[in-house]
Amino acid sequence: MEFPDPQINDYAEEYTTPESDLLAGINRETWTEVLMPRMLSGHLQGRVLSMLSHMLQPNRILEVGTYTGYAALCLAEGMGEQGVLHTIDINDELESRVRRYFAESGKQDQIRFHVGMLFRYPEPKEQWDLVFIDADKENYARYFDLVIDDVRSGGWIIADNVLWSGKVLMPEKEMDEETLALHHYNQKVAKDERVEQVLLPVRDGLMCCRKR
Ligand SMILES: C[S@@+](CC[C@H](N)C(=O)[O-])C[C@H]1O[C@@H](n2cnc3c(N)ncnc32)[C@H](O)[C@@H]1O
Repeated sequence: MEFPDPQINDYAEEYTTPESDLLAGINRETWTEVLMPRMLSGHLQGRVLSMLSHMLQPNRILEVGTYTGYAALCLAEGMGEQGVLHTIDINDELESRVRRYFAESGKQDQIRFHVGMLFRYPEPKEQWDLVFIDADKENYARYFDLVIDDVRSGGWIIADNVLWSGKVLMPEKEMDEETLALHHYNQKVAKDERVEQVLLPVRDGLMCCRKR
């Protein structure tokens, strides 16, 4: 399923603030030089993340799933001077590229890039204002459970790809493992009294949870 309609997406991008030169460069280089470029948030979703970050003005951000650093840099835009963003990725092959992009952003002092898995990083024990879950789909529920107690009241957990190209509409028995995990994630947070949530059908679906 292709959504939104590509023409609507183009129209939305046309009337959305353009990407910075750095983000446009990361977008271009990711598509020409890196495997699986569809994973990158991209122009429209990147501006949504930036806008949300400006609204929340977070001091502590955690991203699970850095990839080429595009979303991390969008999320970092709303942080104040004291803000720190931690981002984690299991893939060490992109490390030097990501560190170069973070250095070019001028925000490298505010960004802590960890190569590894979230489960191996119990520290630092932070009080998160904003968590962005965008890594292996099968573990979304686990990431939510891992961070929820460390999200402040009024803080947010945003999960990407929760519509999974529309595959979450399939009958459960026909779903593959990733689709089922994402569908269960949506059901799980919808039942969780600790959060209120809105599923934004932006790009591949952003589940935005606000901790009560
Ligand atoms: C969809 S991409 C992230 C895209 C990025 N957030 C953006 O919007 O530009 C998913 C990333 O999660 C990483 N990943 C997969 N499993 C992981 C794990 N267990 N721990 C940390 N990162 C993981 C992958 O290496 C990949 O780079």
